[in-house]
Amino acid sequence: MDIKVAAGSLVDQIADAVIIYVLSGVALDGAALAVNTGLNGALQDLIDAGDFDGKTGQVTVLYPRGVVPAQRVIVVGLGAADELTVDGLRRAAALGAQKARDLKAKTATTAPYTTEKIGLAQSAEAIAEGASLGLYQYHGQKTSDPAAALPETLTIIVGEADAEAAEQGVAAGMAIADGVKLSRDLVNLPPNICTPAYMAQAAVEAGQAVGLKVEVLERKQMEALGMGALLGVAQGSDTPPRFIIMQHNADKASELDTIVLVGKGVTFDTGGYSLKTRDGMVGMKADMGGGGAVIGAMKAIGALNVPLHVVGLIPAADNMISGHAYRPQDVLKASNGVTIEIISTDAEGRLLLADALVFASRYKPAAVVDIATLTGACVVALGTVAAGVFSNNDQLRDSLLGAAQRTGEKIWPLPLWPEYNKAIESQTADIKNSGGSHGGAATAAAFLQHFVDYPAWAHLDIAGVAGIESLGGSNDNPYVPGKGATGFGARLMTDFVRQWQPAK
Ligand code: BES
Ligand code: MN
Ligand code: ZN
Repeated sequence: MDIKVAAGSLVDQIADAVIIYVLSGVALDGAALAVNTGLNGALQDLIDAGDFDGKTGQVTVLYPRGVVPAQRVIVVGLGAADELTVDGLRRAAALGAQKARDLKAKTATTAPYTTEKIGLAQSAEAIAEGASLGLYQYHGQKTSDPAAALPETLTIIVGEADAEAAEQGVAAGMAIADGVKLSRDLVNLPPNICTPAYMAQAAVEAGQAVGLKVEVLERKQMEALGMGALLGVAQGSDTPPRFIIMQHNADKASELDTIVLVGKGVTFDTGGYSLKTRDGMVGMKADMGGGGAVIGAMKAIGALNVPLHVVGLIPAADNMISGHAYRPQDVLKASNGVTIEIISTDAEGRLLLADALVFASRYKPAAVVDIATLTGACVVALGTVAAGVFSNNDQLRDSLLGAAQRTGEKIWPLPLWPEYNKAIESQTADIKNSGGSHGGAATAAAFLQHFVDYPAWAHLDIAGVAGIESLGGSNDNPYVPGKGATGFGARLMTDFVRQWQPAK
């Protein structure tokens, strides 16, 4: 869908649908009031009759009789004024756009809803982001024709003086939605298509689109870097691994703060010799959800031209079985020299992350955030509602919690206490890769910390929220698909990077 801004008055627009937003419990105002007047009070009648009260999630349709030139008016409830947030606007915009699609509207118009707290650019951004994400559909490899992508255009109508701010908001909202949709596509793709090389190509293309520097390391280069943990996982597969490096503002690295985003890119996780059950394996095409989120976030960050040096690292491999696969009791050596006794070949994600976290150190990062579908234990702890966040830095964790609040991508703090190291002590190596099932999310985080030598690091465990279908779960968010990839993390990391305050 194309989203445009035009100056004018919403009531005068000729379109297949006009979308308006209405608060509950207060008199009509703004665009809704103007449209109500254009409808000779039909909207007010609806409210007075008790048939529509502006509650969150309510959607209804009115048919003007020539007074308003649009074919129909879609009315979306925003809920109570004092509870309205930017995320509420995103959700309402998604519902309005979905209704327009259901009614086969080709053209839709709307106006930004602003309040004391939500300015015009912010509102336009939320509407563009919510509408665009709400219309996301994955057609996959179905041989039937995909449904027509409707509406074709959404035009945001503003006063002349507001056009520029609205344009900026729309551009930002579209950039973010584009990044998230890329993340979702990568996660939804089957593992025989979305291989490490495919992810690398997607990263290269995203980089070309928004001006990022993208480098892709192959096995030989990883060997030269001593990435024995990543390579240990990759060695069982005939599909070669990739180490993807995406950089925004690479040429200004010395002047700007550097933030590194690291995403687990296991394109399929069989468990290796510590084989998953047949049911447990289904869904594991999404085990590159962290890497997908980083690629999407990097695309958005490039498009938004954030004034920071941002690096995205995606260690990508699949976890397979063969005559040359790694096994339990093998000892691997990571690129910082730490030796790892393998207990479970199914604890592979942390091995990929280990070498990537070591690599992150070369950028002298102000902050490093890794994101991974890391543990079933995190799903047990937080379900499919929230991701877990672990950090060695309270300020960084608070910044991420702020980003979670703003984006609606929920994260919840879990502890990084030294006691968890007990569980990963090894008889034969520096550490072992599995601490067993007790506190599994925390012992995984404790493992990762052995590869971190910078003061601000956070780890996001998104196993429950990436959209792995076999976990069941659902969400009530109209702009997040109820089935399949959510793109979780792309918006969170983009927001976090946008809001970053460089130390003075
Ligand atoms: N990719 C899985 C974690 C996972 C499980 C994600 C279910 C989403 C849904 C990860 O590689 C894994 O297998 N973790 C093991 C770790 C254990 C062997 C210490 C797990 O959680 O069982
Ligand atoms: Mn695994
Ligand atoms: Zn995994």
